[in-house]
Amino acid sequence: MYRTHTCGELRISDQGKKVTLSGWIQRSRDLGGMTFIDLRDRYGVTQLVFNMETNAGLCTEARKLGREYVLMAEGNVNERSNKNPKMPTGDIEIQVTAFNVLNAAATPPFTIEDESDGGDELRMKYRYLDLRRNPLKNNLMLRHRMAFETRNYLNSQAFIEVETPVLIKSTPEGARDFVVPSRVNPGQFYALPQSPQTFKQLLMVAGYDRYMQIVKCFRDEDLRADRQPEFTQIDCEMAFVHQDDILDMFEGLIGHLFREVKGVIFETRFPRMTFAEAMEKYGSDKPDIRFGMTFVDLANACKGKGFGVIDDAPYVGGIVAQGCSEYTRKQLDELTDFVKKPQVGARGLIYIRCNADGTYKSSMDKFYSPDDLKGIAAAAAAVAGDLILILTGEKQPTQKALGELRLEMGNRLGLRDKKEFKPLWVVDFPLLEWDQETKRFYAMHHPFTSPKPEDAQYLESDPARVRANAYDCVINGVEVGGGSIRIHDEALQKRMFKSLGFTDEEAQNQFGFLLGAFRYGAPPHGGIAFGFDRLVSLFAGEDSIRDVIAFPKNNAARDVMAECPSEISEAQLKELSIRVQKN
Ligand code: AMO
Repeated sequence: MYRTHTCGELRISDQGKKVTLSGWIQRSRDLGGMTFIDLRDRYGVTQLVFNMETNAGLCTEARKLGREYVLMAEGNVNERSNKNPKMPTGDIEIQVTAFNVLNAAATPPFTIEDESDGGDELRMKYRYLDLRRNPLKNNLMLRHRMAFETRNYLNSQAFIEVETPVLIKSTPEGARDFVVPSRVNPGQFYALPQSPQTFKQLLMVAGYDRYMQIVKCFRDEDLRADRQPEFTQIDCEMAFVHQDDILDMFEGLIGHLFREVKGVIFETRFPRMTFAEAMEKYGSDKPDIRFGMTFVDLANACKGKGFGVIDDAPYVGGIVAQGCSEYTRKQLDELTDFVKKPQVGARGLIYIRCNADGTYKSSMDKFYSPDDLKGIAAAAAAVAGDLILILTGEKQPTQKALGELRLEMGNRLGLRDKKEFKPLWVVDFPLLEWDQETKRFYAMHHPFTSPKPEDAQYLESDPARVRANAYDCVINGVEVGGGSIRIHDEALQKRMFKSLGFTDEEAQNQFGFLLGAFRYGAPPHGGIAFGFDRLVSLFAGEDSIRDVIAFPKNNAARDVMAECPSEISEAQLKELSIRVQKN
């Protein structure tokens, strides 16, 4: 028997027992006549002790063992003289009577400690060693619990988990598809699903009125901290529901996860905010509502003093940073540099210091008298001690930039506490989004999302004003989920495809199977998908979803451990009827 107990199990009540443990050597210390070894497994660490006086042979052998050796040790549970209250097993140690090296280990390339000395790339290359560390282990345990509780809750609500195919027809859904060549159908390709969207709708047509699946999705898009090319969704669909039924059901799921896994209880319902309000007040469709600092429209208060940057701007918006009037020149320069970054995109930053003594100091003093500044401060509801930050320009990009500045100030002022959770629903998204480059509308969510009944009449005449029955679940500024009530009517679906610039033939070609299914009794239906990796990283307090995925890709979409993607052999290419164009 390799073990009678795990390395996290033994307590003072086990004193006197003869036990066998197996695990990895975390560290060893030689102190005078004693050698101590910390033996680690998934469950914890137990101290082994060898005594030179009572068993010199065994102790000498133990001193030869290296870090990460796999060891089986037999011995007696003794009370420790030097207890360690920080360890669950810290009251006891094992007086070893015999051991067996199950496997030796090369010296690991970085320390396997909670705070490792290894850089990101090195730890990715040796991910199996990195996964031995507590922070990652705890994240994977958390992930498991969340998956388990998700199934638990949805099962209790009569959802059934149905697997959907991974080799599917390429259908545009926003991002690029990963494609897979078919050997038996030369020149033809499958795509990997960006989500099981069409399949879950077909399951509704088939009558399985509550579907769920914890499922891998694949999107060939540029990576960020919260994006991976393959990621996991909690994918769900329901039939015979209105938007409110879905929001209620999944507020229930999120509430269940927080309660069961984190012990966090939300006393009130999740607030709902329209997309329009989110953009107007936060410059983002995923506002972080852990703090205020909402936008004030300062056009009226600022215009007409001859300052071109303001007078010529279609939008003048500001935020008030409380208690920041004493920001130094250097701090203000940093903020100016921040808003000028390409990903923020503002041209400059205007500030007004509302000094504690009642005076004002501004970067536009040349154009504004103290009284003018006082008027602006009043319009912004700023008081002595506050700092007003103003951006100007075209409405949408300026609001977006102001949103970034708001988050930056939130970070600087410590207003984004990772232990506080503020969920909300963002609703009433526009159905369509105009793309300046290709000069056409795209579905903001996806082509199966239904318009609000009262707006459907504008689908042809004024597509931009049509709002959708679409919603996102946002927590602490992270879009953790999104979904919609679907179109279940063939005629409306055809109008939608038309608005997206599809000819009847193209629509038939790409989505014929779905349009066909709608002819055979499609029930009203809708659904949602949560980004499971994002939810777990939020629960874990991590900044990147990589830290909650066992084997993630790096920022260049590479698996640096297995070194992939990689070239394939000429023979494989030939079999697939594929020729690779060099350079
Ligand atoms: P959507 O595209 O909004 O909706 O995706 C749902 C949720 O998945 C997460 N997510 C990602 N997580 C990690 N890496 C990525 N690359 C990535 N892309 C998306 C986000 C997002 O909110 N079929 C629809 C859902 C529906 O309508 O029911 C869909 O996939 O948290």
